[in-house]
Order: sequence, then structure tokens, then C-alpha cells
Amino acid sequence: YDVEYIRNFSIIAHVDHGKSTLADRLLEITGCIPKAASNKQVLDKLQVERERGITVKAQTASLFYTYEAKKYLLNLIDTPGHVDFSYEVSRSLSACQGVLLVVDANEGIQAQTVANFFLAFEAQLSIIPIINKIDLKNADPERVEKQIEKMFDIPASDCIRISAKLGTNVETVLQEVVRRLPPPKIEKGSPLKALLFDSTFDHYRGVVASIALCGGDVCKGNKIVSAHSGKCYEVNEVGILTPEEVPAEKLYAGQVGYLIAGMKDVQEAQIGDTLHLLKQPVEPLPGFKPAKPMVFAGMFPVDQSEYSNLKSALEKLTLNDSSVSVSRDSSAALGAGWRLGFLGLLHMEVFNQRLEQEEYNASVIMTSPTVPYKAVLSSPKLIKEYGESEITIVNPSAFPDKSVVKEYLEPMILGTIISPDDYLGKIMSLCQTRRAEQKSFLYIDEHRIMMKYLFPLNEIVVDFYDNLKSLSSGYASFDYEDAGYLPADLVKMDILLNGRPVEELVTIAHREKAYEVGKAICERLRDAIPRQLFEIAVQASIGSKIIARETTFHASQNLMHRRCDGDNKETFDSSHLTAAATVVAKSIDTPAILSDNTQFLSENG
Ligand code: GTP
Repeated sequence: YDVEYIRNFSIIAHVDHGKSTLADRLLEITGCIPKAASNKQVLDKLQVERERGITVKAQTASLFYTYEAKKYLLNLIDTPGHVDFSYEVSRSLSACQGVLLVVDANEGIQAQTVANFFLAFEAQLSIIPIINKIDLKNADPERVEKQIEKMFDIPASDCIRISAKLGTNVETVLQEVVRRLPPPKIEKGSPLKALLFDSTFDHYRGVVASIALCGGDVCKGNKIVSAHSGKCYEVNEVGILTPEEVPAEKLYAGQVGYLIAGMKDVQEAQIGDTLHLLKQPVEPLPGFKPAKPMVFAGMFPVDQSEYSNLKSALEKLTLNDSSVSVSRDSSAALGAGWRLGFLGLLHMEVFNQRLEQEEYNASVIMTSPTVPYKAVLSSPKLIKEYGESEITIVNPSAFPDKSVVKEYLEPMILGTIISPDDYLGKIMSLCQTRRAEQKSFLYIDEHRIMMKYLFPLNEIVVDFYDNLKSLSSGYASFDYEDAGYLPADLVKMDILLNGRPVEELVTIAHREKAYEVGKAICERLRDAIPRQLFEIAVQASIGSKIIARETTFHASQNLMHRRCDGDNKETFDSSHLTAAATVVAKSIDTPAILSDNTQFLSENG
């Protein structure tokens, strides 16, 4: 293979702007898949993706395309669109030299378009802007081209107008990929130097690693070494993805393909690792930062006898998704379970859905999601115990007391909001209620604005996206990036049922908002706890100070009114606590960002 005839590229876009549809058309034109109505989003392999219409795990396909009588190998690397998975986007981009930046001709530039553009720009990739859906009645490609010129400094004349759905101008896209994108840069004469940029797990063959070769070649029987772990493996199979796996004799510098080499789990196949031949070490490629969980939740089987079943289902799933962090957890009311860390709320929901698809039928309880707070300890004894002065708190019940803490820190994010300016006032006041600080404000065309806000992550975790969408009639889009930690005045809030604290309901809140949060939890509990023959006092407290109180309704006014306090305490046993905790865990844990998003996606087909 002559590397001059190879192009490695990726498609990036805001969610629903048509990446997968364009990928399908490219696959059809190049004959990878037959033209048929059933070719809906071939690259979206996972069942969850098909059901939800979103791309979660990046997939690769090698296409052959003849241009001016020369046969080109085009490696298309599909990327997910949702904010939670932006680490997958950057991982895929590192194997590319160029991207197709797809923008909907009706919606124009959205928050993830901006985020994805900058990922590609910072990776110094060539960018081909594509205006998709020109067949739509409201399509306004000219306006979108102006936005692209203004925001990204790319001349409007560089844009290609297409309809991925109808196939209009898609052939031009392939020609421009050949013309405008550079061939991969390879290190001539170097021994094998391959970037591992993705991996999946196959029950029969172990890890299938996606690799991009920057130098050398690799074939069956080669002994390769992971620069990351130093472990050695023998290559069992190499090949290309069309998107089906097609074994090949050898993979050469500049190519993208897969490799199977007896790696037993995805932890061994570290994304960003460099593979080289045994005894022929190379300078490792700059690696990736490991994906960092941003949202944590406890997971418990409703029935403890289901524990081991659930455990094996969890193990299976984490084999394929190394970005979920898992540690054991236990709770008085809910029994033994796990503390799981996710990249974001969508990631959490996708994970749950996959868990259900593992033919795992028992129900699980997920506790309300929390973010990873930090505490800088002041007590020398504790510092010694933890081995460090700064600890991360992923479980609210382990929140250290103010008396042993120098300061608390909370995770921050930089959020980008793009919206028609009609909703400006409403959006600004929403952000204000979320303790956000405006960082920038820009008109991207006559009627659309882009605003950047610094938010505490905690403030957007539960229902921010939901609110944003509904107050803007669905027009505002949102994306965010990690913005480190800032000091915060945090308090631990206990929830008491008839004077007894319930460990599972402990919440960490900002002092300014503690009253509001406590009141909301108490109200929800009051409504959620099944009616009893007696009243239950529901209280929120900070230390010994009660900040909110509600009383549950009792079953019937005709029954003798028994207050469950003092001597009657024993009638209020742990099964009630469990029930209350379960119900509340469930009712708090309705990740609004997700339900809204799901609805929004399905409305758009
Ligand atoms: P994610 O995978 O969720 O990030 O979305 P995506 O960007 O891959 O979008 P997808 O290809 O799934 O398309 C989203 C919706 O837009 C689907 O309903 C498509 O049928 C529709 N669509 C895609 N391209 C076109 C087009 O050119 N014209 C019209 N009218 N609809 C299109």
C-alpha cells in the first residue's frame, strides 16, 4: 500500500445533525453495504444506540474509493455526538488527519458543533464543513455558511451542501476527502508503532483493539509489547473493518484496522497506548488522559439474593466499557451493592439500559446521582490515615466534618449554550439560579447567541438540560467541558425519618441552597412514602439544626391516630426505612436530562 492513497477521517456533528446517515451513504456509494432501505445507521452497532438513535461507541470502517482512476483507502472513524462521550471523540480524532464537520441546514451551529470543532482544530486536523439536510423545507444553508465563517473562520465557499438522506452531493464529499485531506504522516523506516484508539470485548477472542499504524507493519505471529504496561502479546489476527471484521495478512503504516492478541480485558487495552514489536521499542505516542467519572450513584439489587447475578452482569458490562468505575458499597437499608462512576448522566442511563439487556431481570435500585466533591483535610491524623491531604468524596455519607477540613472543593464545568436570542432572558435567569457565572457572550448571527458559563457540576446534573430545553421550546443546545475544582461552602444534610437519620438519603448541598434542597427532599418523601397507620415526621438537618420538616399523611382519618414517636418507635421498623429510601432514591433519581433528551430524540425520528 502506498500511504499517498490513504485518508483517515472522522465525522463530527451535533447530535442528530446526520453523522450516521451520512456514514451509511458513504458506505453504500463505496459498495461496503448494499443499497437498501434497511441500511439505517449501520455503524450504530449497539442495540441501545439503535433504540435511542444515538451513537455511543465509535466504530470504524474502511472504504475503497476510486478517484481519477486511482484506488483510495478511506478509513472512516465514526464518533459519538453526545457531551458525555466527548472523550471518545478525541480518542477517535487522534487516529485521523481530517474531519467532516456536519451541520444541520435548518438548526445551524449548535453547542456540540462548537465543542467538536475545537477538538478537531486543537488536534490540527483539516476540516471539511458539510451542510446537511438541504432537502428540508426550512433549510437555510446560506445562513449556516455565514455562521461557519464567523465562528470558525472557514470560508463559506468551502462548505459542501448535501442531503445525506437523499444522497444529494454525497459523492462530492468523497471526492473532497481525497482532495482536501492529507494522507497520514508516517515514520518511514520505523519499526511497528501503533496507536491503540479503541477496543471492544469479544467473548471468544478476547479484546479486539482498533489501531492506527504510524510506522512499521504488523502481522499474525508478531510479538508485540504495550508501551503502557510492558506486557508482551502474540498477535493472533489483524484485519480491517468494512465495518465487518475482514482478516488481512498484514497491516501497514498509515492504515487503520483491528488487532487481536490475547488481551483478556479492556483494562489491558488502554486507550492511547502505543504498541511496538518485542525488542524494538519506539518513542510512545502522546497518550490520552483516562476518562474521568463525573457522576456517581449507588446500585443495589432490590432483593439481596440477586447479588451474585447482578455482579456477573456488571462484570460483563465493564469488560466492554472501561470508563465506568466500580467499587463495592453497602448500606444498612439496601444491603450490599456498588458505587458506580459515570462520565455523565446519559452514560449512566445507557449503562443501565445495557445492564437490562444482559438478560438480567431482577430490579435494581439506583441512588440519587452525586458529583465527586473534594475535601482538603486539616487533621494530621486523618491525613496520615488517607495518605494524602486532599480526598475525593464520591459517597455523601462519607462526607468529612467541617472540624477536620480546611476547605471543601466542588467540580466545575464550562458550559456552552447556543440559542435564538428570544430566550435570552429566561436562560440567563435559569443560569443565575444555578450559581453560574457568565464568562462570554457572542452573537453568532443576527438572532442566535452563544454564551459561556462557569457552573458547579452539581447544579447541572439533575434537571438543568431539561429546564433549558423546555424554556427555549427545544431550541437551546448545551455542551460542557471540565473546568477543574473551586472552593465551595458545602454542608452535609441528613434526612431523618421520625428522628432517625437514613444513611442512603444523606445529601451534600451548597450552604446557600441547603434550605431549598432540604425542603424539596422532605416534600418528595412526604408524598412518596406509602401511607402508614401513623404519621412519620420527615426532617432535613444540618448538624443538629433542623432546616425543613414535613409530616406524612396517614392512611385514614378514621383509624386511630397513632403518632409514631416515643414509645411507638418500634412500630417503625427497617422495612419502612427501606421502602422510603427506595422510593425516594427512585423519585430523586429521575435524571431529567435523560428523559427529556430521549423524548427530544424520538420526536426527531
Ligand atoms: P447521533 O448518532 O445521535 O449523534 O445522530 P447523528 O448525527 O448520527 O444523526 P442521524 O444520522 O441519526 O440523523 C438524525 C435524524 O436526521 C434521522 O432521523 C435522519 O433520518 C435525519 N436526517 C439525516 N440526514 C438527513 C437529511 O439529509 N435530510 C433530512 N430531511 N433528514 C436527515
